[in-house]
Amino acid sequence: MFEITKSTIVNSLKNLNSSRINTNSLTLNSIKKLELNNLDLSLEISLNSADSTEVKNEIINHLKKDFIELKNVNLEISSKSTSKVSTHKDARKDAVLPGVKNTIAIASGKGGVGKSTVAVNLAVALAKDGASVGLIDADIYGPSIPLMLGSNDKPKVYQAENSVKMIPLESHGIKFMSIGLLVDDKAPIIWRGPMASGAIKQFMTDVNWGELDYLIFDLPPGTGDIQLTLVQTIPLTGAVIVTTPQEVSLIDARKALKMFERVNVPILGVVENMSYFIAPDTGNRYNIFGSGGGEKICKELNTTFLGGIPIDPRIREGGDAGMPMVYGIPDANETSILMDISRKFTEQVNIRNSNASDKIEILLGDQD
Ligand SMILES: Nc1ncnc2c1ncn2[C@@H]1O[C@H](COP(=O)(O)OP(=O)(O)O)[C@@H](O)[C@H]1O
Ligand SMILES: [Mg+2]
Repeated sequence: MFEITKSTIVNSLKNLNSSRINTNSLTLNSIKKLELNNLDLSLEISLNSADSTEVKNEIINHLKKDFIELKNVNLEISSKSTSKVSTHKDARKDAVLPGVKNTIAIASGKGGVGKSTVAVNLAVALAKDGASVGLIDADIYGPSIPLMLGSNDKPKVYQAENSVKMIPLESHGIKFMSIGLLVDDKAPIIWRGPMASGAIKQFMTDVNWGELDYLIFDLPPGTGDIQLTLVQTIPLTGAVIVTTPQEVSLIDARKALKMFERVNVPILGVVENMSYFIAPDTGNRYNIFGSGGGEKICKELNTTFLGGIPIDPRIREGGDAGMPMVYGIPDANETSILMDISRKFTEQVNIRNSNASDKIEILLGDQD
């Protein structure tokens, strides 16, 4: 039995052990209202769940067991509305991933610029705002998503109608899959382009992603054969380019942008990472890798600047500890920056999808 406060109630919900509810996502982004009036509790939760009566009883019983003094638990379950998120209508995507509204590549010219860090934090930020999100670690030579999401379990498999399917892992409110979960992480992976794209294809077709607003792909760095094959394998809504501000990284970011242009994948914007460092003792700002590079290539190549992320040891620590910054330190200034980037990103997806549907209408109009 615990003292009844808002935070003990949230904690209790975190420990709810149910096969029907993803408790991580429940406490992260699904509690819409929590009011405590003496011993009356009013809760509103939004969930993606088919059998909401059973879920409702399960939650009420759980809370009443933890807090026997509670008089009333008034629980409302609303279905999680993801209608805010627009859909990329595309025959090729719908054929492989019918339940997925948008497929997004996170790419960079160079490695080590923070692509995986951005992919993980963007995915969790979108989930915090209520979207359902999946993340595919497509960096098959250097998978880092299991480490960054703090989960290294073997995915469960089951026999579906015609094939064996995998269930993606879940962490911090998002689903994910990585080659790192399937192979020994000490052995190097030696794959040629077609094998790499085969593995990514399988991550699309043989994993039960369910309904998702976004499926995000953390691509390998560079613009070689393998990247090109992958970009042509995944039916993409659009790509986000990650770069650091200095010229040596921008050169390769430009190449990545051009590669997507060549295969007609829209660029949704550029994220500049490691933009500056604020010294914690003096508050002074240091532009360690220069400044303004991200904005510069956006102007040059006519794309949107989604934002700049400072260097912060807590971002690195969060990555190594499997606790993304936006999840682990929700009130940090860097978290607000990452949340703003994710909202700008959503805007760009919506603009892209409405432009695309205008195009379809124009084409249909042309037929008359
Ligand atoms: N803004 C940042 N502040 C501090 N450390 C960062 C930041 N962005 C990335 N890192 C760290 O830099 C390293 C490389 O980042 P990573 O996301 O793995 O790059 P990539 O996927 O592009 O190779 C990781 O250790 C990561 O934690
Ligand atoms: Mg990476």
